[in-house]
Formats: sequence, structure tokens, C-alpha cells
Amino acid sequence: MTDESFDVVVIGAGPGGYVCAIRAAQLGMKVACVDKRGAFGGTCLNVGCIPSKALLHSSELYAEARDGLNAFGIKVPTVELDLGAMQDQKSKVVKELTQGIEFLFRKNKVTALKGTGRLNGPGRVQVELNGGGGQELAARHIVLATGSEVAPLPGVEIDEQRIVSSTGALELEEVPNHLVVVGGGYIGLELGTVWRRLGAKVTVVEFLDRITPGMDLEVSRQFQRLLSRQGLGFKLATKVTGVDAGGDRLLVATEAAEGGEAEKMKADVVLVAIGRRPYTDGLGLETVDLTTDNHGRIEVDSRFATGADGVYAIGDVIRGPMLAHKAEDEGVCVAEHLAGQRPHIDYDAIPAVIYTAPEVASVGKTEEQLKDAGISYRTGKFPFSANSRARATGQTDGFVKILADAGSDRLLGVHIIGADAGTMIGEAALAMEFGASSEDLARTSHAHPTLEEAIKEAALATHGAPLHI
Ligand code: FAD
Ligand code: NAI
Repeated sequence: MTDESFDVVVIGAGPGGYVCAIRAAQLGMKVACVDKRGAFGGTCLNVGCIPSKALLHSSELYAEARDGLNAFGIKVPTVELDLGAMQDQKSKVVKELTQGIEFLFRKNKVTALKGTGRLNGPGRVQVELNGGGGQELAARHIVLATGSEVAPLPGVEIDEQRIVSSTGALELEEVPNHLVVVGGGYIGLELGTVWRRLGAKVTVVEFLDRITPGMDLEVSRQFQRLLSRQGLGFKLATKVTGVDAGGDRLLVATEAAEGGEAEKMKADVVLVAIGRRPYTDGLGLETVDLTTDNHGRIEVDSRFATGADGVYAIGDVIRGPMLAHKAEDEGVCVAEHLAGQRPHIDYDAIPAVIYTAPEVASVGKTEEQLKDAGISYRTGKFPFSANSRARATGQTDGFVKILADAGSDRLLGVHIIGADAGTMIGEAALAMEFGASSEDLARTSHAHPTLEEAIKEAALATHGAPLHI
């Protein structure tokens, strides 16, 4: 016996699921959204994007007050860290935003359920409510948006106290003397930066011979140089083979990625950040004859339909970058497909940002990808050291790099390392979404003095004619 029928039942209320539910409701469908976490918003709002950005911001303010203001003629005699208050500010923001999702659900008449959802054969979702009891929902369409979880490091057990994932690293009550970060990707570098600014010694152990794989190599190299200048230590081409948690301090065993002599490092906290994997535990995929691919992802077609009738999947649980805005775009897309519309996502125009200082942001292809694909391109680069606003504010690190098709001049990739890169990349994403050329960017009027003028100059440089260098 089903308790209630819906047009759409969404399992998971992260950026993919909650946005899908709201959009489907806007389009006139009767929608329920189920999440087993006590608060809506998924990984992103609860333990991901938002708390990490809160700590990145407050730790940057702290470091600026401690080390950066003298250069501007501002003397701050003593700067003190109140980590408890910093953590409270972060928790307050998370609480406000997750409660905001409940408000949006009410406003759009989405039935919001806190509980675990499980497929129970075609068109049915069984919900075990967090408060006890269960409910079976009938659904014409079911959207799986169950997200991802931390990828484990074999032989290293996460206790979220001393050996932590990103979730524990956002909750530390003391600044560790030595933080060892396993994985030089998004999480390792953002959270490594937070604790470095707050006073920890930080060592990043990365399996590959470079950090941030997938990022344009030239940008990645510059990024590592700038992070090293901030005091982060790097052990590249190195693997962690085990962590001994028996003593007062952790003993981290490492060796060269290709094998070699073992080394030991003492640490107070180890952050495991070697990637995330799709999460489908207990979802009842077998009840609709669905399996996952060899990466644990649910396979979908271009309309996000799975192999099971009426079942769709979006966000971190399917292929593509594990980014909140990608999940949101897919949520909107599925809802609009269900309403008979013809939406489309250009995956080449989805930006990616690492929110360190400076920020690193990109959209489109890297130079390495273009070389591999045999595409002829022209490159234009412009350093922030030649940008007047950057000089006025002392934010001269980094550059803009533009890759444009050698024949048509169409933009193929834009990469920015510099202050506010995450905001500036919006201009490039918009340009690429509209199929703009590098000349279009160069001819667009950019306000003076702004950091964005470096984008215009880099575009001019693809034609060999930058004005200010
Ligand atoms: P999720 O946000 O993971 O949501 C899935 C939800 O489904 C969860 O709440 C889970 O509890 C629920 N669920 C799972 N199974 C069930 C079930 N059976 N029944 C009911 N509920 C279920 N991305 C960015 O774009 N920018 C950032 O700055 C950024 N920072 C990040 C920082 C950190 C530390 C981390 C870990 C991630 C960050 N990300 C960031 C990635 C981003 O959080 C994810 O890409 C995004 O949350 C994916 O959204 P989603 O809706 O697919 O899944
Ligand atoms: P990641 O994929 O960004 O980086 C993982 C790193 O670990 C890679 O450099 C990889 O080579 C390395 N690695 C893998 N196995 C290893 C091993 N055994 N030993 C040492 N290094 C190893 O994954 P991360 O940082 O865990 O983040 C997960 C995902 O969350 C990101 O890919 C991103 O999609 C998302 N995220 C996005 C953010 C943003 O948009 N600003 C911030 C944080 C996370």
C-alpha cells in the first residue's frame, strides 16, 4: 500500500536534488524530496562548499591581519586567534543556509522528508523516517541524487579525530602542530591552506609528480610555487603506506610512488583527501535492475535517464566533475526534460574554482588536452603584475591564460590564477557559453581599473597585441 503519490520523488537534497525538486515544483509537478541527513543541502551546504569557504575566508582575514596589513600602513599590535568563535561563525552560516532550503521547499510546496529513501521496485520509494516509522511513496519519476562520499585510503582508518576526512578537518578544535595532507587536490589544498594560515605546519603528500591533476599544467606549477611561498610543504610522487596511531603523535609512513625506501613523518593530524566516490549504499538499485559502472557511478544518457524506466540520476553519483553547480545544472535539466522542455548543458562551459589565495579558476580545455586532441590553438597570457588595479591592491601574483582556436579564434579554454579568479571566471564561462571568440573578449569594454582588464589583455595577447605589456 502506498501512502502518497507524486509526479517526482527526489532522493537526496544536495545541490542536485534540492534544485531539481524546486524546479520540478515550479513547473507544476507534485514533488517530494527525501534526505537522510538531519539538515537539507547535502554535502555542499553541510560539510563541503559552505563551511570550507567560511573557514577559508576567516583564516584569510586572520593571516591578513597578522602578516599583511603593515604593507598598507596599518599597524595591528597583536592579533589573536579565537578558533572556537571562528568555528561558531562557520556553524551559524551552515545552519542559516540549510534552514533556507527548508524555507524554499515550503515556498515551492515541495514535500520535504527527513529519512532514508530506498527504491522499492518500479515507481516506488520506501522512506524510513529519521524520527521513526516509514512511508511508501508512489512516483511517476524518481531522481537519484545521493551524491558522493570520501574515497578511503587502504590501510588508513579515518576516525575524524586525528585521522580525518574533510568533514573532520572542518571541525578541528585546536590548530595541529603538523598537519599531513594526503592528496594535493581541491580539498587538500583548500583545507591545508586554512590550517597553514592558522599556524600549522602543513605537508601535502601527492601520489603524482604534480598537484591538481586535470588543471592546466602551467597554472598548476605556478599554483604550487605560490603555495610553497605560503609555507605549504610538498612531497610529490610519494605515497602514504600507513599511519601508526598507537603513540601520542601519528607516524605517517611514506615511500616513493614507484616504490623505494620507507620514510616516517610525525604528525598530529592526517587529512585523507584522495578523491570522492559515488554513494549508492542501500539505495535498492537492484529492485529496478540497475547496476553501477566500475567507478561506482550510475550510468545515464544525455537526458539523465538510467536504464530503468522513470528513474533518473544527477550530480556526484553520475559521471563528470563533482561540483555543486554541475549538480544544480543537471537538477534543473532533468526537471525541465520531465516537463517536456529541451534543456541542454555545455559541459565545456562549466567553471571550476579552487578558493585558496590566490584563487585558481578555469573553464574549458587545458593546453595539454588541446595538444592530446591535436587541435591547433593560439595562447595569450597576461600577468597581474602588469595590471594597475592588482598593483594598487598588492595582489600581483598570477596570470590569465587564454586558449583560442587557431583557425576560428573561438575560445577553447580560459585559466586564471590570481585574486578573485573565481569571480572573474564568470565572464569567460559566459563568453564560452555564447561561443565567443577571443576577439569578442578583447573588444568588450572592461572597466578601469579592474582585475578583469587582465582578461581583455590576455585576449589581445592571443592576437599578439596586448596594450600594457
Ligand atoms: P550531495 O551534496 O552529496 O547530496 C547528496 C545527499 O543525498 C546527501 O545529503 C545524502 O545524505 C543524501 N542521501 C544519500 N543517500 C540517501 C538515501 N538513500 N536516502 C536519503 N538521502 C540520501 N563543489 C563546488 O562546486 N564548490 C565548492 O566550493 C566545493 N567545496 C567542497 C568542499 C568539500 C570539503 C567537499 C567535500 C566538497 C566540495 N564541493 C564543492 C563538492 C560538492 O559538495 C558536491 O559536488 C555537491 O555537493 C554534489 O551535490 P549532489 O547533490 O550530487 O550530492
Ligand atoms: P581531488 O580529486 O581533487 O584530488 C585528489 C588528489 O589526491 C589528486 O591529486 C590525486 O592524484 C591524489 N591521490 C589519489 N590517490 C592518492 C594516494 N593514494 N596518495 C596520495 N595522493 C593521492 O579530490 P579531493 O581533494 O578529495 O576532492 C574531491 C572532490 O570534491 C574534488 O574532485 C572536487 O570535485 C570536489 N571539491 C570541489 C571544491 C571546489 O569546487 N572548490 C573544493 C573541494 C572539493
